[in-house]
Amino acid sequence: PLPDPFTVALPIPPVLKPVRGDGGTDYYEITQKAAKVEILPGLRTEIWGYDGIFPGPTLVSRRGRRTVVTHRNELPVPVVVHLHGGRTAPEHDGYPTDVIAPGGGKDYVYAMEQHAATLWYHDHRMDFTGPQVYRGLAGFHLIHDDAEEALGLPRGRRDIPLMILDRSFAADGSFRYPSLDPTLTKTPGVTGTYMSGVLGDCVLVNGAPWPVLDVSTVRYRFRLLNASNARRYRLRLDGGPGFTQIGSDQGLLAAPVEHESIEIAQAERFDVVVDFSGHRVGDEITLVNEHGSGGTAEVMRFRVTRQESDDRVVPDRLADVETLSAGAVTAEREFVFARGGAHAHGMSLWTVNGKPFDPETIVARPKLGATERWIIRAKNVEHPIHIHLAPFQVVGTDGDDDPGPFNHGWKDTVNLDNGGRAEILIRFDGYRGRYVFHCHNLEHEDMMMMANFEVV
Ligand code: C2O
Ligand code: CU
Repeated sequence: PLPDPFTVALPIPPVLKPVRGDGGTDYYEITQKAAKVEILPGLRTEIWGYDGIFPGPTLVSRRGRRTVVTHRNELPVPVVVHLHGGRTAPEHDGYPTDVIAPGGGKDYVYAMEQHAATLWYHDHRMDFTGPQVYRGLAGFHLIHDDAEEALGLPRGRRDIPLMILDRSFAADGSFRYPSLDPTLTKTPGVTGTYMSGVLGDCVLVNGAPWPVLDVSTVRYRFRLLNASNARRYRLRLDGGPGFTQIGSDQGLLAAPVEHESIEIAQAERFDVVVDFSGHRVGDEITLVNEHGSGGTAEVMRFRVTRQESDDRVVPDRLADVETLSAGAVTAEREFVFARGGAHAHGMSLWTVNGKPFDPETIVARPKLGATERWIIRAKNVEHPIHIHLAPFQVVGTDGDDDPGPFNHGWKDTVNLDNGGRAEILIRFDGYRGRYVFHCHNLEHEDMMMMANFEVV
């Protein structure tokens, strides 16, 4: 039932308006519900969406203005909302067992004491994050601040978030996810052949299959997010310019970095500027995935349709980015992400230091404000590792004393190859309390590749 590539226009998720604001706070409301939407031309796909759309509406916050989002759950299952990349108090961070029951609601409060950045929000329910995100529970949450706005970067309709993910469809247009229990009420997990992760054969950007975007001969800012369950991409602009990276997971880099191609793992964000000024009307530039084949080798297309000029720039210096210093380190810890011996539902589980996730077990107790060195290793397959609350800096990869080409700036997710090793410096600022860190391959996460730390 899949369409020809580059025939559907790129949708831009609507920006959600606050229902009210007062002194220092903006209030939003979102209802999580099922809906039938047209993803493949002429067919209806049932999704679970924030406000019934996929991706969910984009939230836009101002640094330092508190943001309160009231979520109502009209879905038939429990849900949990996590603001990925948010520096959030533990009771609002979307702990996997801190669910909103069907028919219930919850206010999530975000201080937004953090730099301009591309964050996203998604479901985080214990054991069922994979299928619930797959059905559509994901959206952008952007933070702006004065320092970023003063830079003169492309903005408005030339600042475009791109949520890239893969899906498979049945002939009737429904999503195909190999849940053991499609009601998502009793047994978690996927059928055995998918234990390494669920891959789709169709790439969607902002919910549309291989879409096309008409552009002018000017600069655009694209906020690349890989929201796939289990797929990583190597993105390149075929027939086009390179990418000028201006930001990573947690906000602007100190200075721009040029890339011919970008390796992006699940949950990572790359803010890039693409300059189409060297092109002419009629040119077509395809965003390709060098790791893909068949339907996953192409992502979307840009079609140059207007000759224009702009005054937007990419300054040589973007932001003051503090460098965490090794001299400040007060503890060192090592975590190995690997397949484990434990079994559940007939499958072996994914583990952290040999143990499947247990909400009652705390594996690290960093002190509030402390800087630590964490060594993270991946085994069996690749694993993208995400740490809640505390942003980090990658200082070494695979034994080298450098972060590698794709780990610039402040990160919240680090992409590890099978056998890979990352050394990070991480500072536990903001809140005391219990948080998770986990693999962001959502099937690995659901199959227990997660652990708790507690800031004390
Ligand atoms: Cu994006 Cu703990 O997740
Ligand atoms: Cu993993």
